[in-house]
Amino acid sequence: MPSNLSDPLPNQRHLFDIPDDVAFLNCAYISPLPKASMAAGEQGVRRKGRPWTIAPADFFTASETVRQLFAGLINANTDDIAFAPAVSYGMAQAAHNIRLSRSQTVITLAEQFPSNVYPWMDLAERTGAKFISVARPADDDWTAALLSRIDASTGLVAVPNCHWTDGGLVDLVAVGEACRRVGAALCVDATQSVGAMPLDVKRIDPDFVAVASYKWLLGPYSLGFLYVAPRRQGGRPIEHNWIARRDSENFAGLVNYVTEFQHGARRFDVGERSNFALMPAAEASLRLIAEWTVPRIFETLRLRTQAIAERARAEFGIESVPADRRAGHYLGLRFRGGVSADLPARLAASNVFVSVRGQAMRVTPHLWTTDADVEKLFGVLRTVRGA
Ligand SMILES: Cc1ncc(COP(=O)(O)O)c(C=O)c1O
Repeated sequence: MPSNLSDPLPNQRHLFDIPDDVAFLNCAYISPLPKASMAAGEQGVRRKGRPWTIAPADFFTASETVRQLFAGLINANTDDIAFAPAVSYGMAQAAHNIRLSRSQTVITLAEQFPSNVYPWMDLAERTGAKFISVARPADDDWTAALLSRIDASTGLVAVPNCHWTDGGLVDLVAVGEACRRVGAALCVDATQSVGAMPLDVKRIDPDFVAVASYKWLLGPYSLGFLYVAPRRQGGRPIEHNWIARRDSENFAGLVNYVTEFQHGARRFDVGERSNFALMPAAEASLRLIAEWTVPRIFETLRLRTQAIAERARAEFGIESVPADRRAGHYLGLRFRGGVSADLPARLAASNVFVSVRGQAMRVTPHLWTTDADVEKLFGVLRTVRGA
């Protein structure tokens, strides 16, 4: 047994279907589905071929287990979690329930992921509120830059905790405090952190948190989550599906329309959330993460990315966000003069997979990453040095 809960984990590549010659350093793009999740998903697809094996109770049981597993990752209660197929869907639910006036502002970060920008541009347009995009700070201190813009006119702060381009960190506990002080709502897109970095909704107290599951949750595409603060759980959902209503377990009684909803955040569940292929796959992935524990995943990835950052700097003078301003699991390398457009393709030609977003080349390993993968990355970088 490890002596410390945050001890790094041993390599877990055997649980993934990754050939030895592939260096997949691109979890920020799409994670591989673990073998166990693929098997669970395949079994789910086969069940749909034999629908008589699907009982009414099956529409509820797996989703409730998955809701609970996800809640555990962010220190939420099971009742606070709704299913949202995409971050854009979760943010649409949030935007439908946040009131702004002409005298208020909506604050986002420069180069933030679009699914957490467009809904707020739209809300600002509809309400007359002012849309603010905090400029990228030269010292990478997003928290200070963001806090300096929060004031009595702030109606909503809509941000990530890990900037998707380069891992720039936002201290959500400090931001949550500032929002509460001025009465502003807080919406978080935590897609690039939950599953790999601790996040505690009880300390942050956000209004909504959306998370896609196909990256750091190692889950399937089109199945994600929306945390809804208890104070928002009386809100109005953007769609009205049968399963979100009270007593939907009684299929024969569905013709008796009711005005009440299922408990907690369930009223915000997307229609047909009981996906018989995706839900078991998500469950298997979340079980793996729960077994490893997020603090240990984080520590393992922090050590890995820190070593890559230090080596990139020492060998090639390539900079990245300083360790104390970067989400530890996430790395973006900043090449002098920008990342050359063909670099990802040249790396991919050698089976090294990374991605470029904005001005940074993202190198996002996970527990499947080996020392040999990292050697491969540096081997190719050496051949294209100066790119
Ligand atoms: C920060 C962030 N949020 C959300 C998404 C996905 O958004 P959606 O689920 O709306 O497709 C991505 C995908 O790259 C992302 O990087």
